[in-house]
Amino acid sequence: MISHDILIVGGGLTGLRAAVGLCDRFNVGLVSKVYPTRSHSIAAQGGINAPLTNNPDSRDDSWEKHTFDTVKGSDYLADQDAAEIMCREAAPIVYEMEHWGCPFSRFPDGTIAQRPFGGAGYPRTCYSADITGHVLLNTLYERAVAKGVKIYPEWFVTALCIDEGRCHGVVVLDIRTGELIPVGAGTTFFGTGGYGRVFQHSTNALINNGSGIGMAYTAGAPLKDMEFVQFHPTCLIGTSILMTEGCRGEGGYLVNNKGERFMQRYAPKAMELAPRDIVSRCIQTEINEGRGFEHPLGTYIQLDLRHLGEKKILERLPGIRNISIDFIGIDPILDPIPIRPAQHYSMGGIDVNSGCASEVAGFYAGGECSCVSVHGANRLGGNSLLETIVFGKLGSQAIAEDPEVSKRRPDERALLKTKDAVEAKLRKLASPGRERPALLQAELSAVMSEKVGVFRTREELEQALQKLTEIKKRYRDAGVSSTSRHMNYELVGAVELEYMLEVAHTIVLGALLREESRGSHFRLDFNARNDKGWLKHTIARLGPDGAPAISFKEVAITRYQPMERKY
Ligand code: FUM
Repeated sequence: MISHDILIVGGGLTGLRAAVGLCDRFNVGLVSKVYPTRSHSIAAQGGINAPLTNNPDSRDDSWEKHTFDTVKGSDYLADQDAAEIMCREAAPIVYEMEHWGCPFSRFPDGTIAQRPFGGAGYPRTCYSADITGHVLLNTLYERAVAKGVKIYPEWFVTALCIDEGRCHGVVVLDIRTGELIPVGAGTTFFGTGGYGRVFQHSTNALINNGSGIGMAYTAGAPLKDMEFVQFHPTCLIGTSILMTEGCRGEGGYLVNNKGERFMQRYAPKAMELAPRDIVSRCIQTEINEGRGFEHPLGTYIQLDLRHLGEKKILERLPGIRNISIDFIGIDPILDPIPIRPAQHYSMGGIDVNSGCASEVAGFYAGGECSCVSVHGANRLGGNSLLETIVFGKLGSQAIAEDPEVSKRRPDERALLKTKDAVEAKLRKLASPGRERPALLQAELSAVMSEKVGVFRTREELEQALQKLTEIKKRYRDAGVSSTSRHMNYELVGAVELEYMLEVAHTIVLGALLREESRGSHFRLDFNARNDKGWLKHTIARLGPDGAPAISFKEVAITRYQPMERKY
């Protein structure tokens, strides 16, 4: 049986950074369902936050100010000790990436360039034009390859093996050969990304469907704060491709059909650079109240970059220009970009501490699939790339320091039992069923976008829950069209769908229970934050009836007492 001291699942920034941190001392394997450089980290555009003080307007920035902005942005749901850890690590991690060869954009004095981003008191977002994720991922991938990390590309993890409170590894499907392979590990680390594709309108790659999160949950690891889903304000209509916050950071305007920069009415100081939860609600309100523009692909608001001029657009936002031309036929040098909010990021995830440890012995998680929680109810732009690398590093350090790490041996029997269960599941999915998994998935993501969006109500959430329950039942009768296991992406999707349904269930139930509005979770029927009743994390465990059982956990408040957020 293939076995590693440490098995990392996910070839994005978190997984690669964890592998780089561990591979000198341990026998590390890294499994990824895509080739690592196709991981969704590649799609990150605008930048990574660190208080480097390179920008002339940020000379007195500091990790303390970064922490405050992060906590305030989180609507005070972030664990403040964890946010502090992340922000203290920010400058060292950016310099580490620079020293490893990451080609950041530069100011004329040669220092790493920084731009303003939403909810930040200072321009602290370090960037490489509008392809920051691309350059970071390639830098870390090169480093992992140079260090000889054993990578298994296009190995799809079908199940996580947890037995008697301990994790023993995973069962993978080699997508190319169709072989089902148990992979044992004393320690398993998930960096499997977020659940964006549980929603129809999402900036996320199709691979980001939360299956890692659902897999951990069904195997027995609890999830935290799943109701907090980030909607990015500026996504291209039709495709929902991300139009980076860097567009507004560079000075872009949001304009309604009256020609107004409407953010003036909602966030007069921060304007377009208010935090994402607020800007998304403002855009949605403008659209809902009839001040949007009409297009066959949907109602939209304009993201106007024209006043930035050709030179700046070509230098700082070349990718945005290309995407806009290629996908909607609009050159932002000449015309405004039609945008609207779409799902972008998962604040909730696998419940872990600041060393990425879950409550299951030998099971760790970091990055977007996890919830430490550093983002609370709303993440600031530029803190996601930061989180991925910081917690890849801190997770690897915590694992290396775990006294049990070299002693833990996977239980082969438990793994083979999990493999048998997966085998039975695949056989069932390969026998003719009445329901096509892809169609069920389309129904799921449609109801999530429609009823669990920027604005939520009890009535709509209950409708979503009802539909979800119906799809879950119909899934029992799902079958794929080909029995072949070789390169069968329909089969992969069918396995993932089961996990997506569980993830969606925790999101909807958390949103129904949380009778307040905080950060990204806005209930029209409970439209104010309620610190007395709801300054707490929700924890979802798979209950015996197959539904999430929700409990609560305290929020760590260290330096900053919750205040009203004004921008
Ligand atoms: O808008 C963006 O470039 C996205 C950045 C982020 O999600 O951190």
